[in-house]
Amino acid sequence: MTKQAQTQLQPLLLLIVLLSSGGLSSGQELCNAHDKNILLLGIKEHFNNASVFATWIPDTDCCQNWSGIQCNSDGRVIMLAVTIADIVGGIPPAIGDLPFLEFIALSGSSGLTGTIPLAFAKLANLNHLDFSLNQLSGPIPDFLGQFKNLDDIDLSSNAFTGSIPASLGRLTKLRTMNLGSNQLSGSIPPALGGIKSLIQLYLYSNALSGPIPGSFAQLRNLNELDLRQNQLTGSIPASFGSFKNSDLNIDLSFNRLSGPTPSAFGNANVTAINLSNNNITGDASFLFGRGKTVLTAVDLSNNHFQFDFSSVDLPRGLKKLYISHNLIFGSLPGRLGQLPLKDIDVSFNQLCGQIPVGRRLKQFSPAKFSNNKCLCGLPLPACK
Ligand SMILES: *[C@@H]1O[C@H](CO)[C@@H](O)[C@H](O)[C@H]1NC(C)=O
Ligand SMILES: *[C@@H]1O[C@H](CO)[C@@H](O)[C@H](O)[C@H]1NC(C)=O
Ligand SMILES: *[C@@H]1O[C@H](CO)[C@@H](O)[C@H](O)[C@H]1NC(C)=O
Ligand SMILES: *[C@@H]1O[C@H](CO)[C@@H](O)[C@H](O)[C@H]1NC(C)=O
Ligand SMILES: *[C@@H]1O[C@H](CO)[C@@H](O)[C@H](O)[C@H]1NC(C)=O
Repeated sequence: MTKQAQTQLQPLLLLIVLLSSGGLSSGQELCNAHDKNILLLGIKEHFNNASVFATWIPDTDCCQNWSGIQCNSDGRVIMLAVTIADIVGGIPPAIGDLPFLEFIALSGSSGLTGTIPLAFAKLANLNHLDFSLNQLSGPIPDFLGQFKNLDDIDLSSNAFTGSIPASLGRLTKLRTMNLGSNQLSGSIPPALGGIKSLIQLYLYSNALSGPIPGSFAQLRNLNELDLRQNQLTGSIPASFGSFKNSDLNIDLSFNRLSGPTPSAFGNANVTAINLSNNNITGDASFLFGRGKTVLTAVDLSNNHFQFDFSSVDLPRGLKKLYISHNLIFGSLPGRLGQLPLKDIDVSFNQLCGQIPVGRRLKQFSPAKFSNNKCLCGLPLPACK
């Protein structure tokens, strides 16, 4: 190469070096220029350069130096997780233009309002979506059902309205769904029972109505089923008897469930059952049983249960027993005195006879046994 050719090439080489390092900043910049632009103009500016974005400095590397951002090895943004307590405004639609995004968490701002933008439909690679504890409203978009890699969706504690899209039943990798504490209405789509991977399902504190889908019994990996504080009607599905998840908590409290509980539910083998504050009638003795070694808590309070408690065979691990405000009759089984109880409330029933003598029962407040037909003995006054 001639000297002249070399001097002509030098500026060109310098230009190539500058371009491939992504700009004039020192060191290797990994951050993809398109993604950086979206973050700076579409998000930081959208939120008026709020202080949480203080580390998002234009001439530093978004992948290495910006808080809440992670990139893949090609410098594409895959994670956006910002604690947004002090921001005000809607979700920036520009986030939809981060095509490699897998993980998004914008949580904890009462200033974050508006709906989930339609532009989010483009985020097909999302596996984690956390918009909890904001003031978002509008419907839960149908298109979330297309995000095949979703593992965890948390929209809890917002003001979402409308019904739960049945399309969510297509999320075959979903392990946690939390839609609790919103204003969701309509009935629960039975299709959710098709998400075999589901471990935690939280739909508490909404305005959901209609029956509890029997299809939920197909969720064999479930360990939390929390439907409390809705307006669900009908009786407990008989299919729930097939729950053999030894770590499952079922909470159906504060609904409008009625009718007798199908005795098939007695075949379930779970950790905790909470049916309190419904309008359920009839027998519940089959929910107990010595063989249910994993059962630690049963709450039947504030219903219309009516059955003989005398012959109920209590599981040996029972720690919490709440049956107050029902029509339960008979006596307290002697075995109750031997259980590792941490709390009990049998008040406001039709129970009679001596409270079993044992290590623990006498330690509880008399109020836990009050307002029965004729219970007696410690902690109540002695039997006559
Ligand atoms: C945000 O910061 C950029 C760069 O410093 C500036 O150009 C822009 O005007 C600021 N925007 C607001 C809304 O403060
Ligand atoms: C950006 O991060 C890299 C790697 O952690 C570090 O070496 C560099 O000093 C940082 N630059 C700035 C401007 O903070
Ligand atoms: C059952 O649910 C009610 C209301 O949600 C709650 O107060 C109670 O503590 C629960 N019972 C158990 C045993 O967890
Ligand atoms: C409970 O059920 C009874 C009998 O089915 C009915 O008369 C009553 O209105 C119901 N109460 C509530 C609060 O739903
Ligand atoms: C309940 O599950 C536990 C733990 O898996 C098991 O040891 C027990 O035998 C089961 N009991 C019944 C009645 O199925």
